[in-house]
Amino acid sequence: MSIHKSEIKKVTTHQLQAMKERGEKISMLTAYDFSMAKLIDAAGVDIILVGDSASNVMAGHETTLPITLDQMIYHASSVIRAVSRAFVVVDIPFGSYQGNSSEALRSAIRIMKESGAHSVKMEGGAEIKESIVRVLSAGVPVMGHLGLTPQSIYKFGTYAVRAKEEEEAEKLIADAKLLEECGCYAIVLEKIPAELARKVSQEINIPTIGIGAGPDCDGQVLVMHDMLGINAEFKPRFLRQYADLGTVITNAVGHYIKDVKSGDFPNEKESY
Ligand code: KIV
Repeated sequence: MSIHKSEIKKVTTHQLQAMKERGEKISMLTAYDFSMAKLIDAAGVDIILVGDSASNVMAGHETTLPITLDQMIYHASSVIRAVSRAFVVVDIPFGSYQGNSSEALRSAIRIMKESGAHSVKMEGGAEIKESIVRVLSAGVPVMGHLGLTPQSIYKFGTYAVRAKEEEEAEKLIADAKLLEECGCYAIVLEKIPAELARKVSQEINIPTIGIGAGPDCDGQVLVMHDMLGINAEFKPRFLRQYADLGTVITNAVGHYIKDVKSGDFPNEKESY
């Protein structure tokens, strides 16, 4: 399988916008550490998201709520050291922007200054407008996130598909337009009907990046552990698993244990 890399040397918000305009789909994946970010960047992914899904797949929490701003900055700075081409966006974690717009600005500036990230992502629409505008006014690019917003999981009560009813769908369209008007450069649409995602993608001029939102978004994002089969028990309908690294790793470790126990490892060539 060849590596897909366009001619772009360093991805910027302007290039993402141009990709939407010429109909080139945007690829986005999560990463949380130096080594995986290096591999993903070398493969040519356009955007790396240092997602607060680190709370689930790196720290083992049930939700994204417990991860802290300091922990996000640690993950983001590890990723940034590895990346030479991709545009890197970092989730502002739960509790670091909902209070007021000054808190949002402080958190965004800490992420940008301490990690070297290129952008931040915030979940929500009209209810966080003031914070989004304040962060943007400091020159920090903001990616929006609508639909299933995992930081609000206790309000939703379930990870089921959002905006199936007309009222919620209308609010989502209005929120997407609002985020565009505020100056967001892209919006993640998570777990919403494909038809609604198609409509939003047509009605706004900035790129939409879908996860469980069908084929008509301007780009797609997956959590790296899910698509590589590291987190094998998580199998939602929207996920395509591109590798079975969970099995590869377990088999390799089993082989190593056998060789250690039998005295086969290390051999003479592996010794000084
Ligand atoms: O944190 C994350 O990984 C995300 C994606 C699911 C979009 O927000």
